[in-house]
Amino acid sequence: MESVSDSGPRLRANLTDIPGYEAGKGPQVPLGMVGYKLSSNESPFPPLPSVRAAMAEAGSAAHRYPDPASAELIKALARHHDVEPDNLALGTGSVALCYQAAQAAAGPGDGVLFAWRSFEAYPLLTKVIGARPIAVPLKPDGGHDLPAMADAITPDTRLVFLCTPNNPTGAIITREDLDWFLARVPPELLVVIDEAYWEFVRDERAADGLTEFRRRENVVVLRTFSKAYGLAGLRVGYAVASRRVAAALRLTGLPFGVSSVAEYAAIASLAHQEELHRRVDAVILERERVIRFLRSIGWPVGASQANFVWLSLGVDADPFAAACDEQAVAVRLFRGEGVRVTIGEPAANDRFLQVAESFRK
Ligand SMILES: Cc1ncc(COP(=O)(O)O)c(C=O)c1O
Repeated sequence: MESVSDSGPRLRANLTDIPGYEAGKGPQVPLGMVGYKLSSNESPFPPLPSVRAAMAEAGSAAHRYPDPASAELIKALARHHDVEPDNLALGTGSVALCYQAAQAAAGPGDGVLFAWRSFEAYPLLTKVIGARPIAVPLKPDGGHDLPAMADAITPDTRLVFLCTPNNPTGAIITREDLDWFLARVPPELLVVIDEAYWEFVRDERAADGLTEFRRRENVVVLRTFSKAYGLAGLRVGYAVASRRVAAALRLTGLPFGVSSVAEYAAIASLAHQEELHRRVDAVILERERVIRFLRSIGWPVGASQANFVWLSLGVDADPFAAACDEQAVAVRLFRGEGVRVTIGEPAANDRFLQVAESFRK
């Protein structure tokens, strides 16, 4: 956690209560060993050659500012999702769009509602804007408790985050449950459906935020190029929303936030859907293999629909993460609660499974 010292210029008092964002760490790699980073839900695949070529070409004009509207990417996304360009807003990753949505909808003292545990940026950004986090515990199966969330809405609630599949549990919100929830939400309350891992979902019961966006003006869908598209290092994500909401998200965004390199890499990635699907399918096959193996050795693993698995280990979480560290596998530890492990390349997953098997013994 960053410390905000008492001396020097006056800063907002509540900054000291805000935990810093804890990013997944890299592995500690002893000499002669290959290390694996399974702590940040990244893709194991580097960008495609055609995407790298687009990056290099855009990079050769890096002495110029990017197009502040990223018009070419907006056009490509509008075609891809069959929406109007005015329905889109971009951000430096979908995490930026979470902040943009919060700034567009909530202010000091307002309530921001989300499930917990979920993506750790939600409570953080809520506090950064001086709003009040309303965290509703997940169900025991790691899914959102939507009835409890609906009950937690008060007249000063300004924003709801729904995360599907949920980070870190991997549980989805079903179409049926989302319909039920949205029918109970006042139409003036903005609901952000964070679908950062949407491309990895294969459960046919899963909700699709874009269907809801077409039906309800208060629904915003967030997607990203960081996960399935494997461009986490370039920082580009997008929101699909009603024209009015999308305009507010653009207004609260950082001017020139999305670089030309990110814009053209994203466009090139959209043009290679077949390759993307092959890569995503490979991750899903590995996910199912990892889950089958863990279950066969009696591990408590939920039915993840994302590119990670969640091990609800309680007090065993810390020693298990330490055992992974020793074998040069970095995982994401939630102290005393559980461990989230990204699905990586087969050799990385094998190493993680070996650690799991010997830890059990
Ligand atoms: C649920 C969820 N939303 C959003 C993000 C942010 O991703 P990015 O800002 O790279 O698009 C993440 C990243 O881990 C996430 O897990």
